[in-house]
Order: sequence, then structure tokens, then C-alpha cells
Amino acid sequence: MVSSLINALPKAELHIHVEGTLEPVLMMSLARNNNVSIPYNSIDEIKNAYRFKNLEDFLRLYYSGLRVLKDEDDFYILTMNYLKRASENNVRHVELSFDPQAHTRRGVRFEEVIEGIHSALKDGERKYGISWVIILSILRDLSVEDALHTLSRAEEYKDIIDAIGLDSAEVGNPPSKFKKVFEKAKTSGFHLVAHAGEEGPPSYIKEAIDLGVERIDHGVRAIEDETLMKMLGRMRIAFTLCPLSNLKLNVVKSLKNYPIREFSKVGIRVTINSDDPAYFGGYINKNYEEVAKALNLKPKEIIEIARNSIIASFASDERKREIL
Ligand code: ADE
Ligand code: ZN
Repeated sequence: MVSSLINALPKAELHIHVEGTLEPVLMMSLARNNNVSIPYNSIDEIKNAYRFKNLEDFLRLYYSGLRVLKDEDDFYILTMNYLKRASENNVRHVELSFDPQAHTRRGVRFEEVIEGIHSALKDGERKYGISWVIILSILRDLSVEDALHTLSRAEEYKDIIDAIGLDSAEVGNPPSKFKKVFEKAKTSGFHLVAHAGEEGPPSYIKEAIDLGVERIDHGVRAIEDETLMKMLGRMRIAFTLCPLSNLKLNVVKSLKNYPIREFSKVGIRVTINSDDPAYFGGYINKNYEEVAKALNLKPKEIIEIARNSIIASFASDERKREIL
């Protein structure tokens, strides 16, 4: 059975937004406890609202939902709930993204956010044996000045934040806009990743590479540019694909022609991840399962994808050997 193989494989999750793991039940209870009004009266109403035309449509709900997160404890609970799910999915290593600007701009202190997430990751490591990396994601629809200020906060937490990413509304906010930010982050010794080619054109993927990113988050639209694909393949760059996200946000019409084999064939390291699982209908195993079913993936191909996730992670070589 494919699903038992998927479950049995040790995996790394490399593309997961902690705010995107906010399940409706937790959203309701935090809204009540923190006195935040949300436009829903029941769990069913929340679930019914989760139909998205595109990325922008989703981001509106995502930023509205995360307003229920107010203090360190809330971020702790959110992260711990995700780690429990990750452990149930046999995730052994996680590279967790968070969007600090989505919190600081509404008056929540950076310290509360990072300390809640960090405490949970430490406790989760003890409880579930999941190693971790924290990725601070810059919101690309905000200004470069705001990004530089956020990077300076990351530098204060250099001992626990390992990587800088780039997310939010892609079209009109190309990676090159953040050249200065990524240069500075690289000089400070952060790993670099960026969302590119989710809704944005293939040229955004090339721009992200030129900024020095080590992985591309999404990257699906690379399929439109054969020359770019070959270059990415030669680099052995990893794509952190998120099939259910792409389906729910109408980035692809169906998973029947999801371009995993085309990417693998040129040498791109394909990985499968869940992005915002509370919103897109499934955690990492479900993402593997839906792709495996749609493309009729062979066990060998599934094993290769799980292996890629560990190889493409920022875990130490020792930790990688332990998991593989
Ligand atoms: N923030 C959370 N999920 C995202 C996605 N899929 N694309 C861009 N920004 C995001
Ligand atoms: Zn994402």
C-alpha cells in the first residue's frame, strides 16, 4: 500500500508556514480567549470559507486568521500542535517558516513570536525527536526598509534563526526588489530561500537564484521555461513543492499533470511539503498520497522524494545520516 510506504518513510518538511497550521478549532478558541472578533460563528463556517480563487484571495484569510495569535503561549501552542501532527506523519526534521511582520505590524512583539515558537521546537525535539531549523520569511508586499528592519531583528536571534525566506503576494514583488536584504542576510551567514514561480513568472525563479537562494519554494512555473529548467537541474537545486496548496490556489488545474517527473528528469531535487495544511486540506503525508495517486508514482519514486527532503535540508551532515 502506497499510504503505508509514505507513512513509514522518514521525511523532512522544508516548506511549512507555522501560521498556516492554525486549525479552525484553535482559531475559535484563541479568538474567544483573546477577545479577537472573527467573521465566523462556527468551525463549519470557517471551513466553508476556505475556497480560494488564487494566492491573494487566500492571503486575505490567512492574515485575518492569524490575528487571534497574541502572545508567546499562543505561538507555543500553535507550534506544538503542528509538531504533534508532523510526528504522526513521520517527519523527523522540520524547517519552520514564520512571518514576523504579520505580527509586529499589528502590535505583537517580535520576542513573543520567536520565543513561543522556539520553546515549542525545543520541547518538540525532546518529545518527538524532531530536529528543527527556523526560517524567518520576509513579506515581499511590504517595503525593503521594513524587510531590512526585520532582518536586523533576525540578526539578534542568529543563534536560533538559520535562514531567511521570502513569501506573500508574489506578482509585482520580484525577488530582485530584495537584493539588498538578501545580500546583507548572506553576509550575516543566513541560509537563503525564496518563494518563486508559484504565481509569478519563471523569470522570478532566475532572479531568486541570482540572489543566492539555496532552494526554491514552489517553483512550479519553471515548467514553462526549458532553458531555466536545465540550468536548475545542473545546479541540483531543490524545489519545495506543495501540491495541495497549488491545487487549492488554482496554480495547477489538476495533479494529473503535476510536473514532478519533468523536474526530476532534468536534475531538480523534488520535495513534497504542506505549505499551509490547516487551509489546504492535508498535512505532508496527504500531499504525498494525492500526488502518488494522481501520477501513479512507483515506490522507488516516492522513496527518492523523501530522501531528497533530507538531503536538501539544512540539517547537519550527522543529523542527515541519522535520519537517512
Ligand atoms: N504565505 C503563506 N503561504 C504562502 C504561499 N503559499 N505563498 C506565498 N506566501 C505564503
Ligand atoms: Zn509557502
